Amino acid sequence: ARLVVLVSGSGTNLQALIDATSDPAYGARIVAVGADRDGIEGLARAERAGIPTFVKKVGQFSSREHWDRAMADTVAGFEPDLVVSAGFMKLAGESFLERFGGRFVNTHPALLPSFPGMHGAADALEHGVKVTGATLFVVDAGVDTGPILAQAVVPVEDDDTVESLHERIKVAEREMLVECVGRMAREGYTITGRKVRFGAPVH
Ligand code: GRF
Repeated sequence: ARLVVLVSGSGTNLQALIDATSDPAYGARIVAVGADRDGIEGLARAERAGIPTFVKKVGQFSSREHWDRAMADTVAGFEPDLVVSAGFMKLAGESFLERFGGRFVNTHPALLPSFPGMHGAADALEHGVKVTGATLFVVDAGVDTGPILAQAVVPVEDDDTVESLHERIKVAEREMLVECVGRMAREGYTITGRKVRFGAPVH
């Protein structure tokens, strides 16, 4: 399977995928990495691995819709089977979802549907929950609302800061992402309403 990965930051999730896809038995390879800003470690990781990159900044376009369409066109040019948002800090718009709905997945640092949005780790800490984690889901038009593919649980420790908690989440998140994307690539998957199961659709 062909993967396009979208990043906005340090790209440790991307790195986990780069490492996994170096084994052909994994069943997927990264054909491009896209970002909404330049100068980030995520792009440097792709370049070091010899993966083509592209950057589309919202500010380069006359509207959010134009940006969204340009993203969709560029990603489509790489003919991906799966688009993985791994720490990509922008919401996809209509054009993007029209084109990639059902094969666009995102990883979130909380156990959805708890703590959606930009501050998953901070919100969990603030709420005083004893466990939290990471969720991989199929992106839909809402904010972190799509069908859930995989979740990983981590404990919240009494002396956690947002940083220490987010770091613990990210360790579990990377493992979950690599495992689930590999299964999606090798086995296929079927979305029925809110439920996703592995395995190609039965005809
Ligand atoms: C991840 O926890 C992701 O879920 C969140 O931001 C973090 C990105 O980390 N939205 P990285 O860029 O993959 O290191």
